[in-house]
Order: sequence, then structure tokens, then C-alpha cells
Amino acid sequence: MRAAVVYYSLEGNTRAAAERLAKRLGAKLVEVKTTKAYPTKGLRKFLVGGKDSMASSTPPIEPVDLDPASLDLVVLALPMWAGKAAAPINSLLKKVNLSGTRVALMVSSASGDASSCVADLAGKLGAKVADLPVLSLTNPGKMDAASLGAKVDGFASSLEGSTGGGGAF
Ligand SMILES: Cc1cc2nc3c(=O)[nH]c(=O)nc-3n(C[C@H](O)[C@H](O)[C@H](O)COP(=O)(O)O)c2cc1C
Repeated sequence: MRAAVVYYSLEGNTRAAAERLAKRLGAKLVEVKTTKAYPTKGLRKFLVGGKDSMASSTPPIEPVDLDPASLDLVVLALPMWAGKAAAPINSLLKKVNLSGTRVALMVSSASGDASSCVADLAGKLGAKVADLPVLSLTNPGKMDAASLGAKVDGFASSLEGSTGGGGAF
């Protein structure tokens, strides 16, 4: 299966999971980087990123090396911000047309309930929630390696074993 794991991570949680998933799938790993870094400290961290995500803003990002037409699967890996997709993923979706590409989601959050973020992304992708395979992780960078590995590897197996279909989150 030709796959790419495309991720944005402000604080490393999503990166840890994305690296593991890409390795397990033998997938290309692509990082979405904003041209201007979001704050990572204090209240500003939540205010700046949260405001952009609530508004579905598209902050400038660096060029992304991704050709969906050459792939069987694109996994979008991202943190949930203010109940929605982290804003840099909106910028990715503006630049890269994923219609016609099989997409799966891996969402990091503090709460572990990614349902509103998945609904947000389904709308932005023009997909049905039920058709999006989803792995929801609670701060994966803080999970022990074995637990994270088990969850991510299980998700990878489900992606390899099916051609579509939704996952529980
Ligand atoms: C701006 C901002 C908004 C956030 N909003 C939420 C939220 O609504 N619900 C939640 O459970 N976690 C929220 N979080 C926590 C992150 O989703 C969580 O820590 C995630 O694991 C971070 O991933 P990262 O380290 O890859 O950036 C928020 C974090 C930030 C920075």
C-alpha cells in the first residue's frame, strides 16, 4: 500500500504517534510546518491557536511535498484545538486536494474525545464521519511506548485490512 502520514504537531504528541504509524505502514512521513510558529507557553498558547482553529483560519505553511494521486492512503495526524482541527491542517487542505483519495485520521487531544474534531474534518473533507477511519489518542507523547505502539499498530493493521469504513473514536 502506498501511503503517507501527514502531520502537524505543536508540542510533539502527534509527532510521536505519526512517526510510529509511518514506520509501521512503510509510509512517507510529511510534516506540516507553519511559517510562523504558534506560541507554546502560557495562556497565549491556547488563545492564539484556539482562536485560529475556531475561525477555521488558514495560517501560512511551508510547501508540502505530497502527491495524493500517487497514493492509496493519506493519514492526517493532528492535534485537536478548541474542539476542531488544529488550524495548520486547514492550510494543508487548502493547498492539497484530497478528494478522490482515501483518508484516515489520527487525532491527539488532552481529553481523548476527538468527536467534534472528526466532525469538523469530515465537513472540510466532504466526507461522512462514518467513512473516516479514526484513531483518537490522549496526549500520545506522554503514553508509554508499548501502549502507544499497540494502539498505533492496531490502527495500521485495520487500515491495511480494509479499503474503507469508519472506526470508533
Ligand atoms: C490551542 C490549543 C487548543 C487545544 N484545545 C483542546 C481541546 O479543545 N480539547 C482537548 O482535549 N485538548 C485540546 N488541546 C490539547 C492538545 O490537543 C493536546 O495536548 C495534543 O496532544 C497536542 O498535540 P501536539 O503535541 O502534537 O501539538 C489544545 C491545545 C492547544 C495548543
